[in-house]
Amino acid sequence: MTDPGERLRSSLAADQSSAAAYGLADFDSPIAMEALRATRVLHAADQEPFPAPGRIRVITIANQKGGVGKTTSTVNLGVALALYGLRTLVIDLDPQGNASTALGVEHTVGTPSIYDALVGDSTLSEVVHQTTASPNLFCVPATIDLAGAEIELVSVVAREHRLRRAIEAYVAALPQDRRPHYVLIDCPPSLGLLTLNALVAGDEVLIPIQCEYYALEGLGQLLNNIDLVRQHLNPGIAVRTILLTMYDGRTKLADQVADEVRNHFGDIVLEAVIPRNVRVSEAPGYGQSVLTYDPGSRGSTSYVEAARELARRGVDLEPLDASAGGPGATPVGALAFGETAEPFRTPSPQTHGSQ
Ligand SMILES: Nc1ncnc2c1ncn2[C@@H]1O[C@H](COP(=O)(O)OP(=O)(O)OP(=O)(O)O)[C@@H](O)[C@H]1O
Ligand SMILES: [Mg+2]
Repeated sequence: MTDPGERLRSSLAADQSSAAAYGLADFDSPIAMEALRATRVLHAADQEPFPAPGRIRVITIANQKGGVGKTTSTVNLGVALALYGLRTLVIDLDPQGNASTALGVEHTVGTPSIYDALVGDSTLSEVVHQTTASPNLFCVPATIDLAGAEIELVSVVAREHRLRRAIEAYVAALPQDRRPHYVLIDCPPSLGLLTLNALVAGDEVLIPIQCEYYALEGLGQLLNNIDLVRQHLNPGIAVRTILLTMYDGRTKLADQVADEVRNHFGDIVLEAVIPRNVRVSEAPGYGQSVLTYDPGSRGSTSYVEAARELARRGVDLEPLDASAGGPGATPVGALAFGETAEPFRTPSPQTHGSQ
């Protein structure tokens, strides 16, 4: 099914049929539907956990175009994966620190952060924080110090490999049953040394594309850069996922952009589409993801669906060859992880009405 509008309608129909399954015959009001959806997200623990990937997945969320939903997608996919049982590490690689804000992790100047691991000698384990969204979700924050890193890194040895080496060392030092299933890296809106570090560190790229005019502009440049990184620095990198964001079903334009993206990129575009939803944009102001801020909102449920699809597509991935990381380094995708943790129930979220 390629039409996002149709997807949303069929998702609503699915809500209706699961309302019937709950024995709730009179479940046709929007508020009741929203309550049902909230219940599903809140009780992630009672539902089937997402399947663990075939190998540790390091996903770089990149698009040098600003404001397309990189951070929002990193945070909400991260929270969804964690709530449904997968250990997830979010690395904030943007000096704006928006992912850190949305996950409620302190990132004032001087807070130990990704800057200290990239430019200084800190290990990721010294700068990582557990989040309040889920015990399965960890975050390495970014502070404004990172703004200087683009320049400071220029004189650092193996400057493009700093993040990759930091992640490799962090994961290798963890016991198997605490290694993350997913590492999500939120990039800044540029193609500088920070994004380059993220492309060298990742095994795959997820590109969020906003369903707006000019959405595809600049994408060629990003894809060229990824090709260059593949040729010279990270042969394993591939664009494996495209996520359509801020879809507005009331406009023809959104459908046109979605169709164009699907025609061009085919199967790597997730079926799940993220609608434009005001709860999504409100949540970071409360230091929360939309899943914890308003679990019944359309924004919340579509991020759960996108994360479920991402997880399902990761099941068949083969572990990477241990020698692929070059001398002295083992790619994290070659390391094993232990059993999936128990899914976690969201701690007393603030639930607001949703649009
Ligand atoms: N589905 C959505 N519905 C409504 N608003 C959204 C949605 N997704 C993102 N936004 C809002 O759009 C703005 C840009 O989103 P976001 O910060 O995730 O983009 P970004 O690509 O990370 O931006 P930057 O390039 O500055 O890092 C934010 O204010 C965010 O709250
Ligand atoms: Mg951002």
